[in-house]
Amino acid sequence: MEIHLAPLENVSCWAFRKLCKGASDSYTGMLSLTNLVKRNNAWEKVDTFPIEGQKQWIQIATSKETECFAFLKKLEEEIKKYPEKDNIYGIQLNVSCPSPYLIKIGQGAALLKRPTKVGNLVKELLKQEKYKVGVKLRLGLNETEVKQRIILNLFKELEKITKDNSNFTNVTIHLKHAKESSSTDYNYSILNELVSYNLPLIINGGIKTFEDIKRLIESIAPENRKNIKGVMLGRAAMKNPDCFSEINRNFEGTPFVHRNKEEIKKEFNELCKQHMPQEIFLKTIEEKTEI
Ligand SMILES: Cc1cc2nc3c(=O)[nH]c(=O)nc-3n(C[C@H](O)[C@H](O)[C@H](O)COP(=O)(O)O)c2cc1C
Repeated sequence: MEIHLAPLENVSCWAFRKLCKGASDSYTGMLSLTNLVKRNNAWEKVDTFPIEGQKQWIQIATSKETECFAFLKKLEEEIKKYPEKDNIYGIQLNVSCPSPYLIKIGQGAALLKRPTKVGNLVKELLKQEKYKVGVKLRLGLNETEVKQRIILNLFKELEKITKDNSNFTNVTIHLKHAKESSSTDYNYSILNELVSYNLPLIINGGIKTFEDIKRLIESIAPENRKNIKGVMLGRAAMKNPDCFSEINRNFEGTPFVHRNKEEIKKEFNELCKQHMPQEIFLKTIEEKTEI
């Protein structure tokens, strides 16, 4: 079972990701492809320095195939210029961001009702063989889209892509629509249907502990459990970066060395000395996490 650290804008810098020991996968926060293609300084947020045992993903936002093409070209140049960043495992397309600005320009959760477009963007990103490709989805843009079950059309489209290309490795589903606040309860009701598609799923939303994962798996029909590739945790990691090690200890009996708050803070500061995050990360981590 993979345990992913969620993409967390202005939080999941290299130092934070490395602090989250035991996470199998981690992501940069969402990066605008328009910025990455047009502005050289936007690449500072691509801080994929080595992290042992963690697969690192870049998360991107776009609605244009031409931008995907230009981005892949620039990524190659960037890696040549900074070979120490050559630790990228995959590229994840954001089809979930609820930001009104992003939705207005047709990106993030606005793409959920456009399966052909999402399929084309994914196919464009798959026109290289070095990086895996994944997507992060929500259940819909709003309640109406959830009731219309638009997500199922997108699942059908993505299922075709998985059949043809093994580099399309996962679909993360955040079990909320884009108008729901972070405090509303999660909607797990559609999960049994989602897992019946032949898609490797990463389930996200409200998961904090091993017991949560166990309950989640037990709620799914045994014959469909094979499609659950992993889970993703965001806010639990902001509270306690050791949550991954704790989960692994329960799953696999791997040894776990508990760090108290002071030890975590000290380790974070040491990591920042190795690769200093931008000021906005330090400020957001101070304000929004318990580190
Ligand atoms: C501070 C913060 C920043 C986030 N930034 C992103 C982001 O850049 N891209 C993204 O797809 N989701 C982002 N999310 C959503 C998380 O990735 C995740 O889907 C959400 O928090 C639900 O998971 P959780 O219940 O484990 O926290 C963010 C969430 C938080 C709290």
